[in-house]
Amino acid sequence: MHQATRAVHAGMDALQSEPTPLSPPIYQSSVFLFDDLQRAGDVTGGLAPGYSYARIGHPNADMFSAAVAELEGAPAAATAASGMAAILAALLAARGEGSIAIAEEIYGGSVAIARSFLSPLGVACTFFDAHDPEAIPDGAGAVLVETCSNPLGSLTDVAALAQAAHRKGARLVVDNTFATPYLIRPLSLGVDLVVHSATKFLSGHGDVILGVLAGSRELVAAAQSLLTTFGATPDPFAAWLGLRGLRTFGVRMEHAVQNAAAIARMLEAHPKVRRVHHASLQSHPQREIAERFFDGRGPAILAFDLESEQAAEQFVARLRWIRYAPSLGDVATILLHPATTSHRQLSPEEQARLGITPGTVRLSVGIEAEEDLVEELSHGLAG
Ligand SMILES: Cc1ncc(COP(=O)(O)O)c(C=O)c1O
Repeated sequence: MHQATRAVHAGMDALQSEPTPLSPPIYQSSVFLFDDLQRAGDVTGGLAPGYSYARIGHPNADMFSAAVAELEGAPAAATAASGMAAILAALLAARGEGSIAIAEEIYGGSVAIARSFLSPLGVACTFFDAHDPEAIPDGAGAVLVETCSNPLGSLTDVAALAQAAHRKGARLVVDNTFATPYLIRPLSLGVDLVVHSATKFLSGHGDVILGVLAGSRELVAAAQSLLTTFGATPDPFAAWLGLRGLRTFGVRMEHAVQNAAAIARMLEAHPKVRRVHHASLQSHPQREIAERFFDGRGPAILAFDLESEQAAEQFVARLRWIRYAPSLGDVATILLHPATTSHRQLSPEEQARLGITPGTVRLSVGIEAEEDLVEELSHGLAG
């Protein structure tokens, strides 16, 4: 079955309701009722299926989790209040007693989890070059990388990394937010846990903050228990919005991925653009990984380098309807300036080492018509 078809129907088996509606109800309740002590005890103690208190679980979270499990080809999934909560729970569940190794090229929030939260608690965190599987440090219990990195869209050979991690006794956690299961299913390549900011392409409409993780029943149960304890589980309406958005995942992704490839070609030929970072282009440094794991395609996000921060500022100011918004994965094309927003936690030297320049602009490509996008971007660059 194609991912587009799965996305339309997934998750409904988790709904137990008579009559069965096509669009599931929102179970907007903090607590569930019981008729007797025995059942209340069994459900609360996890001995019988059911719901007791919404922080511990509710049907909307279960439907969204089941849908993402289907899309990622996972035995189980757990929904979190945000992508950050999902990453933290995944790392803590995966690491056992070991340290945490994080790719150098990664979302700034993941760097913050390591530096501002885990390290002060005494959990050792180190950064490594995810393009070199042998660079995974000894003693790591969990390794975190992105299939397609934020912000420059470098591709990671997660199959090679999973093998190297397992050889060293570590588990591999992969953030698949940028690439999505439309382009790659990391669990099929040996990855232990997949995490998402479901705020982005999975929900797709810029109206909800949500996270999700997927993998083996054992690891997902451990992560779910942490999420419940932290209180980092989702509100029913947020989970409902996630599933609502997921229904159009296939058409949104197909259209946006095609738009991104067309924009990458146009920008690469533009005299004001110094460099375009997109895996659909032959010039992309990991083009071979794109061929092997992404069907030769690039994600619905691209980055490009203008001459300077001033040039980036002028470009943003000239645009008429492509707006500056520090997020990604929405139906609308939006952009941001990584050096001053998503990656501001990094020093200028760290940014430079990763290839983020003061003139780098990241574009999250939406589902508008290709010719309108090309015209708007050409207008922005014409100043
Ligand atoms: C790749 C990636 N992972 C995780 C996150 C965090 O997700 P959330 O904002 O839903 O907590 C983001 C947010 O931008 C992201 O880009």
